[in-house]
Amino acid sequence: MQIKILVAQPEHTVFAQAICDLIEESAKARGTGIAKRKPEYVIEKMLTGKAIIALVNGEIGGFSYIETWEHSKYVANSGLIVNPAFRRHGLARRIKAAIFNLSRTKYPEARIFGITTSLPVMKINSDLGYRPVTFSELTQDDAFWAGCKTCPNHDILERNHRRMCLCTAMMAPSAVEARKMVVDLSDMIVEG
Ligand SMILES: CC(C)(COP(=O)(O)OP(=O)(O)OC[C@H]1O[C@@H](n2cnc3c(N)ncnc32)[C@H](O)[C@@H]1OP(=O)(O)O)[C@@H](O)C(=O)NCCC(=O)NCCS
Repeated sequence: MQIKILVAQPEHTVFAQAICDLIEESAKARGTGIAKRKPEYVIEKMLTGKAIIALVNGEIGGFSYIETWEHSKYVANSGLIVNPAFRRHGLARRIKAAIFNLSRTKYPEARIFGITTSLPVMKINSDLGYRPVTFSELTQDDAFWAGCKTCPNHDILERNHRRMCLCTAMMAPSAVEARKMVVDLSDMIVEG
């Protein structure tokens, strides 16, 4: 299997429709109401350097893109999809790592967050340094929460005044915060 994980380029726009179809089919299969993505939206992400694409033997393997909120104070890595033909080969792990690094490079001051019910995504996020948080820590931008309107559980979110729902919220520190967290322990090394 020849796998390429790339920052999407204009030549990859030919895959936009296939990506949207994969997202829609997977949402149906999972019984979730994930917001439908239009090919134009996916193309715009590709043309602005805000997307990661995985190609397997030249076919579409997977995809994810960056969204920004509150003037780039927050970043979400959204629309993660892996082609069912290539699942369980570590593609999601590689795509998530690439989109995470791209987010931190493009928006070093932004915290990175996501909401999910997916076990694989929770595992991968934890390994990347995300921690579970309450919804109060996330962007309060109405445009972000509008994405939940097509979810069958939206009434639960509304009933709880956007404070909680069935998704787990996870957040990673910004690149700037992460650098500050690195503590130099070299003074504490005791040589025997
Ligand atoms: C979720 C999804 C992206 C995972 O893609 P993938 O390429 O198969 O995932 P990976 O192979 O990188 O696996 C990552 C981890 O999750 C685990 N995993 C993957 N699929 C799993 C499943 N169905 N059930 C349990 N664990 C699973 C893997 O074992 C791996 O864990 P490990 O490294 O500790 O062994 C893919 O199934 C998909 O596209 N699903 C539909 C869309 C979706 O759910 N998107 C997320 C929305 S938040």
